[in-house]
Amino acid sequence: MTDLKQKDLLIKEWLEEIKTYIIEQKNEDLEVSQKTADNDLVTRMDKTIEEKLVGKIRSHFPSDKIVGEEGFGDQVDSLEGTVWFIDPIDGTLNFVKQQENFAVMIAVYTDGIPECGYVYDITQNKLYSSIKGEGVCCNGQQVQHPENLKLNEGMIASSSALMGNEKKPVIREIGRTCMGVRMRGSAGLETVEVLKGNVIAYIASNLKPWDVAPGLLFMSEMGMTASQFDGEEIDLLKDNSIIFATNNAHKEIVNMLDA
Ligand code: IPD
Ligand code: CA
Ligand code: CA
Repeated sequence: MTDLKQKDLLIKEWLEEIKTYIIEQKNEDLEVSQKTADNDLVTRMDKTIEEKLVGKIRSHFPSDKIVGEEGFGDQVDSLEGTVWFIDPIDGTLNFVKQQENFAVMIAVYTDGIPECGYVYDITQNKLYSSIKGEGVCCNGQQVQHPENLKLNEGMIASSSALMGNEKKPVIREIGRTCMGVRMRGSAGLETVEVLKGNVIAYIASNLKPWDVAPGLLFMSEMGMTASQFDGEEIDLLKDNSIIFATNNAHKEIVNMLDA
């Protein structure tokens, strides 16, 4: 077995442990607190999940670097070597208010090239995973490539931050050109909607590296396109406003944003 396959199995084991932990804790006090705004929340679970994953990575791969949302990782200013991206709970607001529609996310990159990525929809018991070059699987079953639909042939996913706060009329025009806009509140689960073909694009502003790291691999494995709003490559060392889309819809959205 290759080192990457072994790593993949190990990460999947960790994710199963985390799922059991989340289920065990679901009736306990989440200890919710605010970060930067009323709707920017963190819970005891976000912190303990990240702490657990960071501990495991450090014991198995002590020289690797870790970028984690809740601050248990490292200060990373270069993608040289192996870098892990962790979002312990993507969709914390959903986790607090709905107890569903959230995901645990991990991605591993070496010298800026993705190796493997994971988005675990815990309550639906669906683990989306990818090893570079092997496509994307859901619970081990290969996900089929969706049709390369155009913008007016499907719906898009977006974030309430972009749809609600964006001043540029072009964002609403993109929303009107497609068949409808859906907002799920988890960047990871919205990315999964793109690769399944449920929506033709996900557009969102100011996403953090851990929000997009697994999705970037998923998009390339599905032969779909990922970029910043201006068509430039996504940079995992900074915040990015992103488009994950079918190739046709991607071209149209970039052209509309550029007009
Ligand atoms: C958030 C979710 C949300 C997106 C935000 C992210 P978090 O992640 O992915 O859908 O619109 O920009 O910050 O804070 O719940 O991990
Ligand atoms: Ca999070
Ligand atoms: Ca997130």
